[in-house]
Amino acid sequence: MICRIERPVEVEPPEGLVIDSFPSGELCRAALVDLINATHAGSSDSQVRGNWARLLVRRLEAGIFGETSPELWLRALYRGQPVGIALGAVKNDVGYIVCLGIQPDWRATGLSTILMSAILDRFKRRGLAAAEVSVDPANLKAIRFYEKYGFTRI
Ligand SMILES: CC(C)(COP(=O)(O)OP(=O)(O)OC[C@H]1O[C@@H](n2cnc3c(N)ncnc32)[C@H](O)[C@@H]1OP(=O)(O)O)[C@@H](O)C(=O)NCCC(=O)NCCS
Repeated sequence: MICRIERPVEVEPPEGLVIDSFPSGELCRAALVDLINATHAGSSDSQVRGNWARLLVRRLEAGIFGETSPELWLRALYRGQPVGIALGAVKNDVGYIVCLGIQPDWRATGLSTILMSAILDRFKRRGLAAAEVSVDPANLKAIRFYEKYGFTRI
């Protein structure tokens, strides 16, 4: 699914919630994998099984999704606890959302909008005009979510 990157939606984060960049480095990889797994619990995406999160991080670091840097590895922290993630990469002038997920307790709270706006904002600041995401056709919730932000199927 693709979309043109428009002005990011402004959402006031609840008190205690911050979006920052995930720390990089060998020691943080396990924490990143854990957060990806925790934020994709119950996902109907058929790829979300086994050690997919570890493989996703390896592929991200190897540049398979495009050029990436910690500035595009966003996490949401609530009172210091990680509750959401949005990972991005850039390929052929398109911002690619590698994964975006919210801890089950934080779904339907507006946090997904905050993370989506944050990652699109990072892409926009790099001068990118379009964003892309791959979604499993079975993951209807995710498809509806992306459609709300103007993503259309290609
Ligand atoms: C896909 C995903 C990120 C969507 O996030 P979400 O919080 O569940 O979904 P939404 O933001 O669309 O919110 C769902 C409903 O919550 C309600 N909601 C949204 N913001 C709200 C707020 N600020 N206050 C109260 N209710 C709110 C709305 O009723 C919304 O329904 P709507 O579509 O009618 O507007 C999340 O379900 C998830 O992490 N899934 C697992 C990982 C995954 O599949 N990721 C996508 C693959 S890349």
